[in-house]
Amino acid sequence: MTSNESAGLLADKVILVTGAGGGIGRHIALHAAREGASVVVNDLGSTVGGDGRDAARAAQVAADIESAGGRAVANTDSVTDWEAAQRMVQSAVGTFGRLDAVINNAGILRDRIFHQLGVDEFDAVVKVHLYGAFHLSRAAASLFRAQGSGALVHMTSTSGLIGNLGQANYAAAKLGIVGLSRSISLDMARFNVRSNCIAPTAFSRMIESIPGQSAEEQARFREKLKATVRADQVAPLAVFLASDAACEVSGQVFGVRGNEVYLYSQPRPVRTMHCDAGWSPRRLAEQMLPAFRPSLTPLDRARDVFAWDAV
Ligand SMILES: NC(=O)c1ccc[n+]([C@@H]2O[C@H](COP(=O)([O-])OP(=O)(O)OC[C@H]3O[C@@H](n4cnc5c(N)ncnc54)[C@H](O)[C@@H]3O)[C@@H](O)[C@H]2O)c1
Repeated sequence: MTSNESAGLLADKVILVTGAGGGIGRHIALHAAREGASVVVNDLGSTVGGDGRDAARAAQVAADIESAGGRAVANTDSVTDWEAAQRMVQSAVGTFGRLDAVINNAGILRDRIFHQLGVDEFDAVVKVHLYGAFHLSRAAASLFRAQGSGALVHMTSTSGLIGNLGQANYAAAKLGIVGLSRSISLDMARFNVRSNCIAPTAFSRMIESIPGQSAEEQARFREKLKATVRADQVAPLAVFLASDAACEVSGQVFGVRGNEVYLYSQPRPVRTMHCDAGWSPRRLAEQMLPAFRPSLTPLDRARDVFAWDAV
């Protein structure tokens, strides 16, 4: 524990958390409030698949923050709506006078093996994750530029960074978010605006049903995760990245699972080969492939890479 840990890393800050009515987002909102932030608690209150609305979920989290002595306002708009994203930013400024950080956390799943994936299922998932992250980031960008500061934190996923079965729509959106974040960090550095990603693993309703597992495997997995890989354990990393304590950190991808945190690598060339005569498809087959074969990335799934338990 550092000497001034009680001061609150987000004292006098205003933070907007999307999808904060439950799961990981709820814990980020609660933790941010405990660290001194005023919080805009956004949540549509949908099912995991993105259907329906329940205004009570955002309201409950805002009420929980207030009853613990914090400041919060609920917002029940959808992150898929560009105009609504402007209203969320305005809500922060109108209620608390400023906005310092946005946590793009709202998410849904529509898992399907690729050859059966529908256009509607692809569209719905990309709209919430990738468009949602864009809408909120872009809506905040003008304000951040004007005030010369701001932080964005986006939830990505090992499903995009590494891979998983039956989640092409989700993986595409989540890896799109990594590119979005990296671009924002480059474009907005001149205005002292930072952007980072977190790939969390935490027990929530979203990962209760992981594709490709038997009922028995799922039950075992669920019980283990519930106890050891909790949604509240993601919040400290999100709060840190939103705070000025992370002022030197931008364009990065972190992971968190239980009490483990990771820093991910980002794609760079791993092998190069030159051909004086220029490449032909046949030369690529005969010379490049044998040279590169040992370095090809295996078709791992996330759980192959994270083969050890979190405890
Ligand atoms: N739980 C994990 O292990 C895990 C792993 C990788 C990534 N993630 C990511 O972390 C984030 C939080 O996931 P979670 O596990 O807490 O899931 P969750 O389902 O508990 O929470 C997601 C929240 O987003 C809200 N939401 C959905 N669509 C919305 C919209 N259009 N506008 C506003 N709110 C909306 C939902 O109502 C819900 O409360 C997601 O982006 C998810 O993809 C989670």
